[in-house]
Amino acid sequence: MLNNRLLLAGLIGLLVSASGLSVFDNLKSAQASPSGHAPHGTVTIDGLTVPDIGPLPTSVPSPATNLTYKSKVELGKQLYFDGRLSKSGAISCAFCHNPATGFADPRQTSIGIEGGVGGRQAPTVYNTAFNHLQFWDGRARSLEEQAIGPIQNPIEMGETHENVVSKLRKIKGYQRQFLAVFGTEVNLQGLAEAIAAYERTIISTNSSFDKYVAGDVSAMDERAVRGMALFKGKARCILCHNGPNFTDNQFHNLGVPQVGPLKEDLGRYYVTKAEKDQGAFKTPTLRSMSETAPYMHDGAFKTPEEVVDFFNAGGGANQNLSPLVKPLSLTAEEKADLVAFLKALTGEPIPFQLPKIPKD
Ligand code: HEC
Ligand code: HEC
Repeated sequence: MLNNRLLLAGLIGLLVSASGLSVFDNLKSAQASPSGHAPHGTVTIDGLTVPDIGPLPTSVPSPATNLTYKSKVELGKQLYFDGRLSKSGAISCAFCHNPATGFADPRQTSIGIEGGVGGRQAPTVYNTAFNHLQFWDGRARSLEEQAIGPIQNPIEMGETHENVVSKLRKIKGYQRQFLAVFGTEVNLQGLAEAIAAYERTIISTNSSFDKYVAGDVSAMDERAVRGMALFKGKARCILCHNGPNFTDNQFHNLGVPQVGPLKEDLGRYYVTKAEKDQGAFKTPTLRSMSETAPYMHDGAFKTPEEVVDFFNAGGGANQNLSPLVKPLSLTAEEKADLVAFLKALTGEPIPFQLPKIPKD
């Protein structure tokens, strides 16, 4: 798909705080409907009933104020790959959300500009269109807000928003496209909207799992089929990784060991200041997780096997550990089945070409 990683230069420490519109409440209808283990049904474990896992909706939700269409997506894609959004000119979004590594960062924690980035692992951009909240702690409500936040926050970005806008205003290719797409000169709002529109095209879907639940029983091997049953039963994964995007969009403390530059990361607590949220992080999607190592908010685990061992042990010791996490007593065989199922969630490759970024 992609081999010129040099071009995937990337920018802006995205560590934002802000608030905005919630866009995806309509998705709930895609999950609800009764009955047993059917793809659109529910699953009950220990008296707790959660939505089943199942195929993604065929249409990607987008806000009424930022409809997705081709010329906007093309513009957003150029901006996503354009290092001029950063002070050094070298760091674009793709530097940390690299298409060659599942639109995530293979580094344990991202390196940004002038130490402006915290000690967190950059999650994948795949299916962020379906997230109710963005970031590990959910501090941004929309992709638009997520993209614009760092630009408004010079401490986190290494570049001021005035500079980004004035740099891009000098580039004729951008002048022309902003006029065509938004009817304006280059501005921050348009920049955020175009990038968000592009992100809404980065979708992981049509995995072996999706084909299997759509009726192609040969799409998953026996191992993955057994892994799916464990996922929805003995291994308890579905208690949090549920619905079409394999996430409840909630925050939980798993007792993940804190590694990397931060001594402590209280996660969701920084947003809500509620004690119960100390050390709780957003349940990530598991779609295409085989492409997006390392794992967890701090990149503590390198392989799916390490993650499964961690859950099998009942998570990590933590006074705020979620009661949903328990030791699982999985056999070696069962652990391997579960990993086979996780790999069956890899979406079909999306055709990808680097954009032509306007020179001047
Ligand atoms: C220097 C590395 C870096 C760059 C550059 C970067 N990001 Fe990120 N991104 C991160 C990290 C780290 C996080 C997680 C931070 C957190 O949760 O506090 C993140 C989180 C996100 C999320 C939230 C995903 C989720 O599931 O919650 C999105 C979306 C995103 N970035 C998009 C972008 C876009 C668009 C750009 C360019 C405008 C960009 N990023 C540039 C490192 C980076
Ligand atoms: C109590 C809710 C809960 C349960 C149960 C649960 N998870 Fe998670 N999972 C999470 C949360 C929250 C995170 C992120 C935690 C963090 O970074 O501190 C996570 C992270 C992960 C990741 C890392 C993904 C990434 O992109 O970094 C994988 C893989 C994963 N879980 C798989 C599983 C499997 C397999 C099971 C069942 C054995 C399971 N989970 C059970 C909530 C849960």
